[in-house]
Amino acid sequence: MSSPGATDSSYLFSRATGKLLTITRGEGVYMWDDEGNRYIDGSAGPVCVNIGHGVKEIADAVARQMAEISYAHSSHFTTGTVLEFAERLAKFAPPSLNRVYVCSGGSEATEAAAKLARQYHLERGEPRRYKVIARWQSYHGNTLGALSMSGNIARRRRYIPLLLDFPHIPPAYCYRCPYGKTRDACDLECARALDWEIKANGKSEVSAFIAEPFVGATLGSLPAPDGYFQLIRETCDDHGILFIADEVMTGVGRTGKNWGIDHWGVEPDIITAAKGLSGGYMPLGACIVSDGVAEAFKGPFAHGHTYGSHPVSCAVGAAVLEYTVKHKLVERSAKLGEHLHKRLGVLHDHPSVGDIRGKGIFAGIEFVKDKATKEPFPADVAFYGRVVERCFEKRLLVYPGVATVDGYVGDHIQVAPPLVVTREQIDEIVSLLDEAIGEAEGEVL
Ligand SMILES: Cc1ncc(COP(=O)(O)O)c(C=O)c1O
Repeated sequence: MSSPGATDSSYLFSRATGKLLTITRGEGVYMWDDEGNRYIDGSAGPVCVNIGHGVKEIADAVARQMAEISYAHSSHFTTGTVLEFAERLAKFAPPSLNRVYVCSGGSEATEAAAKLARQYHLERGEPRRYKVIARWQSYHGNTLGALSMSGNIARRRRYIPLLLDFPHIPPAYCYRCPYGKTRDACDLECARALDWEIKANGKSEVSAFIAEPFVGATLGSLPAPDGYFQLIRETCDDHGILFIADEVMTGVGRTGKNWGIDHWGVEPDIITAAKGLSGGYMPLGACIVSDGVAEAFKGPFAHGHTYGSHPVSCAVGAAVLEYTVKHKLVERSAKLGEHLHKRLGVLHDHPSVGDIRGKGIFAGIEFVKDKATKEPFPADVAFYGRVVERCFEKRLLVYPGVATVDGYVGDHIQVAPPLVVTREQIDEIVSLLDEAIGEAEGEVL
């Protein structure tokens, strides 16, 4: 049965460049359109449908909360679902992070984290601190404050006159080290750059450093080298600035641990989360705040939105966390992630596959025109688009990435199916991808 509703899309002012398909049903890693075609969701949408499509427990949680009350303003009221979500999330977070601020998505979480850091310093009598340092080729969201922190050159370009002048340091991009180093010769110059940048900004102007533990959409599931985040933590402590881990894409088990940053045993001051936090079932985001930061606040956090702490979104968040723990999806991501990465390894035989990276059920493939020199394809070849289209024809969905190298050239895709994916489905995804890459190469190499 198809969903109720209209069929004319001409009233939409949409981000899509092509014709939009109408999706009518989802279950696990599969989605169906209104013509009955089945797609395998190899990227969990934009890496958000962590628990898979069509989970009944989530629909039930929504219906229950809607039947009780769907909205209550968060400056006067709370609901059981809001409190349950906050408690579950705090318990899922690293030990020193126990306070949860709830919002409606990743960009809102980034904005809130920057304001939290600012108010934290005000409360402590350091009114000059406001700048958030981020990294080039990172992504923290599309609202103007979040885009100012985002170092995604391609997404920033059109809007530069509207952005805040926040500083950026080079990325920890080992495949194309900005310092021209190999792993053997690496002295973590990219992490040391933070100390320089803080000093260059006048030491007492900086409030926080924000980074994705694995760079998601911009650099295709790129991990930092060992020691990187330990050094970042030390540098932040030395200068009295907060470390914000943007776990919007990597949180809630995606990389095989609760949080991406857990791979390096480092505790941030603030974790931002969204996407998998609600499994895509409702708009939901959060800042998880350390006890130390929360205790510095003498009054309330002076920030909020109409839909902050939304009772129905929080019902979803609580149910998704419960489902994640009950079905051991974090452990599953670690285990099946090994299978995914092993199977993806065969793609190295393709001349265009330059690098395969990631952890857990979170992988990225960077494409190159020449493997030996790592020369990228010219932008007008749009190699990523060719791979994505060939996949789409086979009804496999993967997440495209462009302008990887420097904001102008470079191609990658992300492979990150729902964490409920089976071994057989992983094999199916990789073999369809294998064919698609071969066909795309046939067109241009
Ligand atoms: C790491 C990261 N941070 C923030 C965001 C922004 O989240 P949202 O699209 O929910 O605003 C994204 C979205 O892709 C993301 O990947």
